[in-house]
Amino acid sequence: MEARTSVRTFDGRPLGVDTVEAINAAMSCATCPLPGEWGMDIQRFDMRGSMKPGTYGVIKGAADFMLLGFDDRDFNNAVAAGFAMEQVVIACTQMGLGTCWIAGTFKEGDFARVAHFPGDMTLQVVIPVGVSAGERRFLEHFTRFTLGSKNRKASDKLFFVGDWNSPLTDSSQYYESLMMLRLAPSSTNSQPWRAIVKGDTVHFYTTRTDKVHGVDMGIGMSHFDMTERYRNYTGTWSQDAAKAPEAPSGLTYVASYRRE
Ligand SMILES: Cc1cc2nc3c(=O)[nH]c(=O)nc-3n(C[C@H](O)[C@H](O)[C@H](O)COP(=O)(O)O)c2cc1C
Repeated sequence: MEARTSVRTFDGRPLGVDTVEAINAAMSCATCPLPGEWGMDIQRFDMRGSMKPGTYGVIKGAADFMLLGFDDRDFNNAVAAGFAMEQVVIACTQMGLGTCWIAGTFKEGDFARVAHFPGDMTLQVVIPVGVSAGERRFLEHFTRFTLGSKNRKASDKLFFVGDWNSPLTDSSQYYESLMMLRLAPSSTNSQPWRAIVKGDTVHFYTTRTDKVHGVDMGIGMSHFDMTERYRNYTGTWSQDAAKAPEAPSGLTYVASYRRE
């Protein structure tokens, strides 16, 4: 999670069979403890030049793409899809591969032609995956600079303990896991996650309720969850807005986690 950073310039070479197999295995193992459904796939496309698959950011030299589909009428599906797919993204980082989440409308074009998901799921995200070209192009530097991709909001603006005026400190049992959430990628680096620790439970909220920010929320909570598990903690995720602390206006409750 500390090593991951969005890669938009790849070396142009397709992934080997073993690597694709390992990614497929990571996709089959991906889970989400909260309700929601998604579909995942990895496909090769013959588009190794420059292209702009999403609403911003140009990708160059990518041959393989992970595809993520869900039924976007339910916010829970966006959260669960982000949660599960980030496990695959981190597995790719562990394999030394570069990735970049790209959300967009892929109703037409090559991606939509090959993406087939069950039921009412449609293609929502594509993620180029491959070996980084090493150096970022000027355009990539420009994208990162305009989004402030290197930066994250200060933790005292994101995480609280007890009440919304008391920022999280490193004495909280959830400090390390929330610091890892803070490193998560999000669309336009918007970082919609907010969290408050009350007693033994941490409650997660979002600043925005559209589907792309639902994906962002899932990705962030997945970082939190992976850190908990890496540190050998087990815990329970739940969704009960009635039991969650009331939030300042502009925040919408998403889920809660309690360490056992
Ligand atoms: C759901 C989601 C959608 C994104 N969509 C795009 C996109 O359309 N184009 C792009 O270049 N980057 C996209 N990104 C990458 C973000 O801009 C990037 O994660 C953010 O600026 C932080 O930079 P980092 O990933 O290098 O830490 C997306 C990220 C997420 C999580």
